[in-house]
Amino acid sequence: MGQLYFRQLLAGRDFAQATPYAAQMQNFVYLVGDRETGEALVVDPAWAVREIVAVAEADGMRIAGALCTHYHADHIGGTVFGIHIDGLSTLMEVAPCPVHVHRLEADGVRQVTGLSTTDLVIHDSGDVVQVGDIPIELLHTPGHTPGSLCFRCGASLVAGDTLFLQGCGRVDLPGANPDDMFRSLQKLRSLPPETVLYPGHDYGGPHAELRDVAAHNDYLKIPDLATWRRLMGT
Ligand SMILES: [Fe+2]
Repeated sequence: MGQLYFRQLLAGRDFAQATPYAAQMQNFVYLVGDRETGEALVVDPAWAVREIVAVAEADGMRIAGALCTHYHADHIGGTVFGIHIDGLSTLMEVAPCPVHVHRLEADGVRQVTGLSTTDLVIHDSGDVVQVGDIPIELLHTPGHTPGSLCFRCGASLVAGDTLFLQGCGRVDLPGANPDDMFRSLQKLRSLPPETVLYPGHDYGGPHAELRDVAAHNDYLKIPDLATWRRLMGT
């Protein structure tokens, strides 16, 4: 077993089995850490945060921070369409820790979760967050939201709602920008083909190498911005 601790948890299946809507939404939560120091970061804690923390603890890991791919409530908690989703506010109670967000996402994260400015660590693209001796690189990939982030750790790419095995994140919601999404997808497509994509939802599967995603995901095959705009109707 290596030093890197990496777990993918599907809401409604691996945890939050009793939480309404969790299974329908098919959100993935990730734990990334250093087995030697016993520290882990949780990516997009939502749906049943106490259970996520318990999974980490059962593996001998302590939650040392949270990474937010973006501010939507199904990823970090909050109330949407009158439904309350468990998330970061619970994490602040049960395992208080720094919450890492992109600069352009901070306001949204505060509004959706009720967290305060002092709970957040503001980042720009290219920043590296260290968990134990494991570095995690932050890539700014706007489009789905202004401050969407992807996280690179070794050969793994945790991509939130920027890229799924099938399709990409919606660009018709408030704050979305279709042109930015095109450029972000090009950025991800330029990563080494052996990079393993770990998406924010189980849309088409839990993980795959980028070379396979590029071969099967039509959104990565669009050659230029003009074609993209035509296909997206923008
Ligand atoms: Fe989203």
